[in-house]
Amino acid sequence: MSESRLAASIRDRTARIAIIGQGYVGLPLAVEFARRGYRVVGVDTDLDRVGALQTGQSCTPDLQSDDLLALIRGGRYEATADSAVLEDSDVVIICVPTPLRKSKDPDISFVVSAGTEVAARYHPGQLVILESTTYPETTEELLLPIFRAKGATVGEDFFLAFSPERIDPANPTFKVKDIPKVVGGVTPACTRLAATLYGQIVPRVHQVSSPKVAELAKLYENVFRNVNIALANEFALMCRRMGVSTKEVIDAAATKPFGFMPFYPGPGIGGHCIPVDPLYLSWKLRLDGYESRFIALADEINRAMPSYVVEVTAEALNEQRRCLNGARILVLGVAYKRGVGDIRESPALEILKRLRDKGAEVSYADPHVPSVVVDNTAFKAVEPSADALGAADCVLILTDHPEFDYRQVVDLAPLVVDTRNATWGMPAPLGNVVAL
Ligand SMILES: NC(=O)c1ccc[n+]([C@@H]2O[C@H](COP(=O)([O-])OP(=O)(O)OC[C@H]3O[C@@H](n4cnc5c(N)ncnc54)[C@H](O)[C@@H]3O)[C@@H](O)[C@H]2O)c1
Repeated sequence: MSESRLAASIRDRTARIAIIGQGYVGLPLAVEFARRGYRVVGVDTDLDRVGALQTGQSCTPDLQSDDLLALIRGGRYEATADSAVLEDSDVVIICVPTPLRKSKDPDISFVVSAGTEVAARYHPGQLVILESTTYPETTEELLLPIFRAKGATVGEDFFLAFSPERIDPANPTFKVKDIPKVVGGVTPACTRLAATLYGQIVPRVHQVSSPKVAELAKLYENVFRNVNIALANEFALMCRRMGVSTKEVIDAAATKPFGFMPFYPGPGIGGHCIPVDPLYLSWKLRLDGYESRFIALADEINRAMPSYVVEVTAEALNEQRRCLNGARILVLGVAYKRGVGDIRESPALEILKRLRDKGAEVSYADPHVPSVVVDNTAFKAVEPSADALGAADCVLILTDHPEFDYRQVVDLAPLVVDTRNATWGMPAPLGNVVAL
């Protein structure tokens, strides 16, 4: 299929779309294309996930199961583990994980394996887009050669681009359809086709000159967040020494209507993006003999936050003539952020471990995470009932899920350590709330 025929099939919604990886990123994207009238196949190697999706069970907070079921029944969406469907696809979008190895080097194996599957079933005229966050030049250094080895000529008989995913799971304001896309193709034709595709589902597509620029744009977004969170975290340490509330200071600074964007401290950073992506960039630059200093410092500060939270908790107990050893600590929230059940890289896991190592009796409540394993010990979530709050020596808020009743927490818990400002502004007559 030529560029013009593929563009026409994208515009008239007859192009068949396959999305590899049906997680937080791939599933909402697949559904958005399906809602706009495309026939979309979601491909995933996780058989349990595929089974759940086939029966209409969503695995992301951004999609109601009823909506998924309606698209399946309408013949717009199907999930499969069989990559043979790629043969019939005009557009293939890759949304697989890009984690770190234990050594903190990029683990790009999922991208390689997905790319190899696509290339094995490649047919002339396909548009292939990588959305996984990755180091600069992945698209051209890693994916392109896999297709070249199959005899494909980019920009002529197949089209390759990078377009970073920017989803923020559980964000009530910005869903896939609301977030502008950046696209960078290997050739101008690749960029044009990718822009035409995303132009069908988002309000704005920003074209850049190469996949490398698009890859770097995504990394810069996440480095920006990572560094600013680190700044807020270090600022919290400073404010504690100065005896003032960090939030009060940041809120005051945020009244400036230009040149300032507020970030707030927390127990550390988690999830698949902010703690991970900057290290993809620093790894790549290290190959070129350059050490990225901001990324290293931010990583150091953010990774020290879990032990800082334990220190603050121990000091708060000490003020009440108690010690951490033997203290009953009820942790509220173990997910890495509000409203989701994602515990990847969640700082709560390290905090739970450190508290236990110091002899605390730890339990946790999280409406989104029924169980966790910490240091080979399985924990089941408990209900944050009035009895449980009152029986704890300390309630430690690590994730500000909207489901928790913070008023009740402040009223009933003898001590509250609030790392998320969830109880901010609530009168605490007992003086029992300590914030970061
Ligand atoms: N989660 C976020 O908030 C977010 C935001 C922006 C970007 N990203 C990036 O998007 C990418 C995907 O992240 P995610 O959160 O959706 O991951 P996820 O773990 O939720 O989903 C990835 C899915 O890919 C599947 N998979 C892995 N290898 C596969 C293969 N070879 N073929 C088919 N399926 C395969 C897995 O089984 C899994 O279901 C990552 O690069 C991530 O950094 C994530």
